[in-house]
Amino acid sequence: MDRVYLDHNATTPLRAQVLGAMEPYLRGTFGNPSSLHWHGQQARRGLDRAREQVAALIHARPEEIVFCSGGTEANNMAIRGTVEQRGGASPHVITSAVEHQAVLRPCQDLASRGCQTTHLGVTPLGEVPPQELRDALASDTTLVSIMLANNDVGTIQPLEELAAVARERGVAMHTDAVQAVGRIPVDVRALGVDMLSLSGHKLGGPKGVGAIYVRRGFHLRPQLLGGGQERRRRAGTENLPGIVGLGAACELAAETMGADSARMRSLLELLETRLLAELPGLRTNGHPRRRLPNTLNVTLPGLSGEDVMLLLDGAGISASVGSACSSGDPEPSYVLIAMGASEDQARSSLRFSLGPETTAAEIHRAVKALVEVVETMGGLRP
Ligand SMILES: Cc1ncc(COP(=O)(O)O)c(C=O)c1O
Repeated sequence: MDRVYLDHNATTPLRAQVLGAMEPYLRGTFGNPSSLHWHGQQARRGLDRAREQVAALIHARPEEIVFCSGGTEANNMAIRGTVEQRGGASPHVITSAVEHQAVLRPCQDLASRGCQTTHLGVTPLGEVPPQELRDALASDTTLVSIMLANNDVGTIQPLEELAAVARERGVAMHTDAVQAVGRIPVDVRALGVDMLSLSGHKLGGPKGVGAIYVRRGFHLRPQLLGGGQERRRRAGTENLPGIVGLGAACELAAETMGADSARMRSLLELLETRLLAELPGLRTNGHPRRRLPNTLNVTLPGLSGEDVMLLLDGAGISASVGSACSSGDPEPSYVLIAMGASEDQARSSLRFSLGPETTAAEIHRAVKALVEVVETMGGLRP
């Protein structure tokens, strides 16, 4: 059976050009970029080029890019590294209720060790109101960490305004941009952030590689100690094939993002319009306009999102009930609950996330399959 993959927020397939760029580094170009001989210098060139490619996509300087193992590590580096560097007697970290676990868990861990934490609420559309941030800032606030785009519902935060609020008060600002980079234009200077996390496997690159942008002059306490790699900001011999793949994926995204986003946006509209027409009672979640071009989260009243997802899977459609990292977890989506949904509503949600290779035929197949699944389950019960 031909399968339809509509779970690109969980991960994306490796783009062919990315694999092509990586191949030499899995074979002949195996040197250690820290070695001074010819083999090392060949590898170093690949590393330098990737750094330029990543920097270019987010309008940073190459020396502001630190490679690491992905979004989770980048978020941990930003949060722990800032608090440990700037600490103070009783540091205070502000984040939001709708962050990925890779932000929430390090904050929880800091809280268990005496750090104060504040989780800002969101509007029913999933936005953090800048006024809430203004009100939460205190004299000992060390860091604000708010994501650029949400993985479950796709809402894009008013990050420029939020970062301006933090900057006015001289507080460090980090953003988890894992779902945004490669899908919407991201400019670290326009956003006004000190740190930004990104991940290879969300933009057609390989898994297990990512980067953190650290603004020039901003100091983070390193979390991995050892060799002097990444200008002493992250020790360990670099994952060169992965990094080269991440660089290639960023360069490709810079070239194709405009056209890809426009196509995904129109397919997403097709999906949304058809679902609303075929399944009266279905509701959409997230911001209607300030949303990722590829993400549609819906509530199917009266049905279990997980059961629907499993039946869709049987019909050849891969969708999701939310963040992959928490699937298998019976808890309803905390993102939807923070947006004001009841537990039942949150359990009845389903996420479709498209990719550049998604076609209109696949959207029609997914709609047909969902309508059949809903009928099999006895229909929606608004
Ligand atoms: C918003 C967000 N942040 C962080 C991560 C973690 O990234 P990685 O899988 O590269 O560790 C994810 C992955 O789902 C994500 O969606």
